[in-house]
Amino acid sequence: MSGKDFLEIIKTRRSCRKYKPEQITDEELKAVLEAGTYAPTSRGMQSPYIVAVQNEEQRKQLAAMNARVMGVTSNPYYDAPTYVLVFTPADANNPIQDGSCVLENMMLAAHTIGLASCWIHREREMFSTEEGKALMKQWGLPEGLVGIGALSLGYPAGEAAEAKPRKEGYYRIVK
Ligand SMILES: Cc1cc2nc3c(=O)[nH]c(=O)nc-3n(C[C@H](O)[C@H](O)[C@H](O)COP(=O)(O)O)c2cc1C
Repeated sequence: MSGKDFLEIIKTRRSCRKYKPEQITDEELKAVLEAGTYAPTSRGMQSPYIVAVQNEEQRKQLAAMNARVMGVTSNPYYDAPTYVLVFTPADANNPIQDGSCVLENMMLAAHTIGLASCWIHREREMFSTEEGKALMKQWGLPEGLVGIGALSLGYPAGEAAEAKPRKEGYYRIVK
């Protein structure tokens, strides 16, 4: 892939809020997760932990937990077939930044291979509850982690909208 193609990937990635019910392949999922593991991390510590949930019962549980924090009854993960959650140790050097780099890498990788995604928030609140801690234990995660964010992931149902125009003065160059 040329550099130009990659810039196009960055510009055409959009948050998807409507997914086909079909599950993505394991190969696609692993490509996305692996891209996450190559994100830069503070001091190269690879502090994040990534959990991909495809189990229907657990997806329902996560949707209910997130909806409770949000104060809605709809599914905050938009009924995607896969949820990808990112955690980092609270005492990592830069937990939020490390986890955010992982999430962005995965969103770009997903778009590159024709999948769609959306960053879904509120994992910090969800996983500071007893219910959230029990799930983390069930997934074999160490103690002391905080939820950074999640992705809904799947095949898009429909075309992505174009990006909004970028704001005036978004960047400046000082020479
Ligand atoms: C930190 C963060 C939290 C977000 N949380 C949500 C969310 O909970 N639900 C949602 O539908 N989109 C969420 N988004 C997606 C943004 O709404 C989206 O990126 C923004 O509207 C721009 O659209 P685009 O991603 O298509 O360019 C979040 C994005 C970020 C970076």
